[in-house]
Amino acid sequence: MGSQTPLPHIFLVCFPAQGHINPMLRLGKRLASKGMLVSFSTTENYGKEMRKANEGISDQPTPVGNGFIRFEFFDDGLAEDDPKFSKLDEYMPLLELVGKDLVTQMIKRHANEGRPVSCLVNNPFIPWVCDVAAELGIPRATLWIQSCAVFSAYYHCHNKMVPFPTEAEPIIDIQLPGMPVLKHDEIPSFLLPSDPFQVLGRAILGQFKKLSKSLYVLMDTFQELEPEIIEHMSQVCIVKPVGPLFKNPKAPKTSIRGDLMKADDCFEWLDSKPPTSVVYISFGSIVHLKQEQVDEIAHGLLSSGVSFLWAMKPPGKAFGTEKHVLPDGFLEEVGDKGKVVQWSPQEQVLAHPSVACFLTHCGWNSSVEALTSGVPLVTFPQWGDQVTNSKFLVDVFGVGLRLCRGRAENRLITRDEVAKCLLEATVGEKANELKQNALKWKKAAEEAVAEGGSSDRSLEDFIDEISKITY
Ligand code: UDX
Repeated sequence: MGSQTPLPHIFLVCFPAQGHINPMLRLGKRLASKGMLVSFSTTENYGKEMRKANEGISDQPTPVGNGFIRFEFFDDGLAEDDPKFSKLDEYMPLLELVGKDLVTQMIKRHANEGRPVSCLVNNPFIPWVCDVAAELGIPRATLWIQSCAVFSAYYHCHNKMVPFPTEAEPIIDIQLPGMPVLKHDEIPSFLLPSDPFQVLGRAILGQFKKLSKSLYVLMDTFQELEPEIIEHMSQVCIVKPVGPLFKNPKAPKTSIRGDLMKADDCFEWLDSKPPTSVVYISFGSIVHLKQEQVDEIAHGLLSSGVSFLWAMKPPGKAFGTEKHVLPDGFLEEVGDKGKVVQWSPQEQVLAHPSVACFLTHCGWNSSVEALTSGVPLVTFPQWGDQVTNSKFLVDVFGVGLRLCRGRAENRLITRDEVAKCLLEATVGEKANELKQNALKWKKAAEEAVAEGGSSDRSLEDFIDEISKITY
């Protein structure tokens, strides 16, 4: 790598899901651009898909700014598209069982080859990475990929600091420091006794067992967005808000991306549309709407008459879900007013001047990408942290309109509701108010990640700490 002094080596271990890969890789690129050697690791099955979709994924160190990034994948013991991947209560223990050994071997090999690992970073769902670090005596950090508000909810639930809904008492609201009351349907749904994905809640709570004063918690949020919550949580662990990670003012142009599919080109079409006229629609990488709900959205789009770009991803191979179909004659009727793609280059789409608003499931990545690109949101949360994010986007950040309360998955939102909400978020007084608020957050985010801004300082602090340990 042409340097005599070894660079601090940060080893990132990432749960294999798009919503986790994106923020972790963005963190990797930030750290590399500030002069670190970064190794990015996830499962071999995911690595294969990343390699297919992106030229920049190499096991050789690739220069990024003042540092380097390289990729190293490990086998999770599953064949490609094995349906066990979608059965998380079986997959999680398997990943831990095989991952722990393989990650340990990788870290030992780097030490033997003269690239000792200075810090091991994991994200939620794989808390066992903290055990690997502890056993090898390596400093560790977690990248929390959701909001600090959601972090606080899990923390308070894990430590039983306030009563959460139970089977006996399912409808209770909670009050946590620095945030408005969360109604029962605004609490991260994995924490509710009725939730079908409680296994995910348990996996996330596993991370909280590993919290200790020595563990850094890097967060994809920024000080100005959640000041009181960050301040409160900083009293219990070392919180470093370093987001929004997708904004990297010093990032050199690089083809290193974590998408699992090649993005379709949308820009010629977007360029042909007037400013703030297009509704962008995407439900992230996992949510799979009921076919009836897709029909209602399609009819709502037709009756509202708005222009739209709809990223309609194909069903996940391991999940056994059916491909969505659009109503008969829909595309013909829409004509040039609408465009449907499989996977969009979302960050760039949200930055395009034609985009008026974003109909979203409120995954934290999508929420932050829109909010800090100055794009208002129509919130359609399905589960997990999405319900809490929707609450904050609408009631706290002032950039969202609710298409429905709580988990949209539980009911069918009609075409009339869709049309009304999209029109309100696109034209008129409310649309203007949301846009002004979003532009305010865009500016605040740009300041946070700029040199000397709050997130930049947080990241520099983290790097200083790690570098002190390295030398
Ligand atoms: C998951 C969880 O579902 C979510 O609740 C949690 O906050 C993060 O992990 P996911 O559902 O995939 O994430 O949603 P989201 O967090 O929004 O992440 C999706 C990512 O894929 C975003 O970074 C988005 O930019 C990207 N994307 C999505 C594209 O690049 N193109 C697309 O067409 C769709």
